[in-house]
Amino acid sequence: MKITTIILAAGKGTRMRSDRPKVLHEIANRALLQHVYDTAQHLENNTIKIVVGHGADLVTSALKDLEADWVEQTQQLGTGHAVQQVSDQIADSDTVLILYGDVPLLKLETIQTLLGNVTDKALALLTVNLDQPFGYGRIVRNTAGQVIKIVEEKDATPAEKLITEGNTGILAVQGQSLKKWLNQLNTSNVQGEYYLTDVIEMAVADQISIVTCQPETEDEVLGVNNRIQLSHLERVYQLQQAHNLMEQGVTLKDPLRFDQRGSIESLGQDIEIDINVIFEGKNSIGNHVKIGANTQIKNSIIGDHVEILANCVIEDAVIGQGCKIGPFARLRPESVLAEEVHIGNFVEIKKSSVAAGSKINHLSYIGDTTVGSKVNIGAGTITCNYDGVNKSRTIIEDGAFIGSNSQLVAPVTIGKNATIGAGSTITKDSPENQLTLSRAKQMSIPGWQRPVKQEK
Ligand code: UD1
Ligand code: CA
Repeated sequence: MKITTIILAAGKGTRMRSDRPKVLHEIANRALLQHVYDTAQHLENNTIKIVVGHGADLVTSALKDLEADWVEQTQQLGTGHAVQQVSDQIADSDTVLILYGDVPLLKLETIQTLLGNVTDKALALLTVNLDQPFGYGRIVRNTAGQVIKIVEEKDATPAEKLITEGNTGILAVQGQSLKKWLNQLNTSNVQGEYYLTDVIEMAVADQISIVTCQPETEDEVLGVNNRIQLSHLERVYQLQQAHNLMEQGVTLKDPLRFDQRGSIESLGQDIEIDINVIFEGKNSIGNHVKIGANTQIKNSIIGDHVEILANCVIEDAVIGQGCKIGPFARLRPESVLAEEVHIGNFVEIKKSSVAAGSKINHLSYIGDTTVGSKVNIGAGTITCNYDGVNKSRTIIEDGAFIGSNSQLVAPVTIGKNATIGAGSTITKDSPENQLTLSRAKQMSIPGWQRPVKQEK
């Protein structure tokens, strides 16, 4: 079976009140249209065609990497008109699947069930039973329970409006028949549009039966028309991902306060995640990892037995086995930590590698630096990596001890097992095994008296 999937995405989305075309609004940092595409992408033997109209240029350029044919519908004259734009690209023997670019959470299994119902003699239609069917096309059935037509809300009689079975808009049908019916569409309805839904009545007239199926949950077929619906589907999607992680052995303190905007490429067991943790991009998490509340992790690799305390921001970092991070630590891009490294509160690391067992526990900035193993960097240490024009590197060799409140002015090397006295400004390489310090000599002034306030 060869499939042609047509994703309708030309609509304006007025109620989003946005400069951005509706289908580019995102769920979990991924455009609505991308979600639909990604699901359709899993079907075998499938060609994807996307009908765009409003903001077509913005949509095609934002999603230029999609392997799809873009078809422009310059005027939005209805869903039937949108599909007509693709008509001449449909082969008779194709099975045509219609999806909506603003219905992001439709499941692959539901699509597969739908496709399984298509034959030469049957059109497959996805319907949904709704408590509040207002706005939806209604599925009209005869006394034998067979679908005979779809009537749009605006065209429905009071009796038809009472029908609670709604049209999702998603259907699949043989190409040859569809093309024939598309040619027969007209605009004689209240909205003066070409309704794709009119093909149902035509199919029935051609003795093609309408086979319906339903999604597992209503959320699968909900469309996004405004930002309230967008936020609803975001939460639905996030809860799905949270459940997925818990099924794989992750403890989430509160699945309602968890966000994954991207993928977790590899996931260990017995991971514990506190509330309000956000994952973005591609991450990988080892076994027995603990992540504290309010932490944001992007494009990072976290080794086994790592503990990240609350309120950390981590991006493009590699964290080795057994490291302890935070609270309030920031790992910026290209931070690479080997095993058992400790990064404490209010420490910022950027473009630096830290070898095994080193500790940077308080209030430091380490940038463009190579830190050896078993190094201890005291509170308030700053690598001065930027002179206003150039960035330079600092090298701190194994076993060095940097006293608190020191500035290491790069380029500079601190030798193996060197000690830097607290409060030093180091501008020259410091030899190994020695104490180096730069500090005004301490003095005390005997007989000195504090000024005294004069009584007025
Ligand atoms: C449509 C269905 C209705 C169904 C509802 C489900 C028709 C006539 N009606 O109604 O039975 O219950 O969806 O949400 O099909 N689009 C285009 N070009 C157009 C018009 C629409 O690409 O000219 C796209 C939109 O971007 C959207 C989809 O088609 O993704 C549906 O359009 P929309 O206007 O939301 O359809 P409804 O009138 O709500
Ligand atoms: Ca709609």
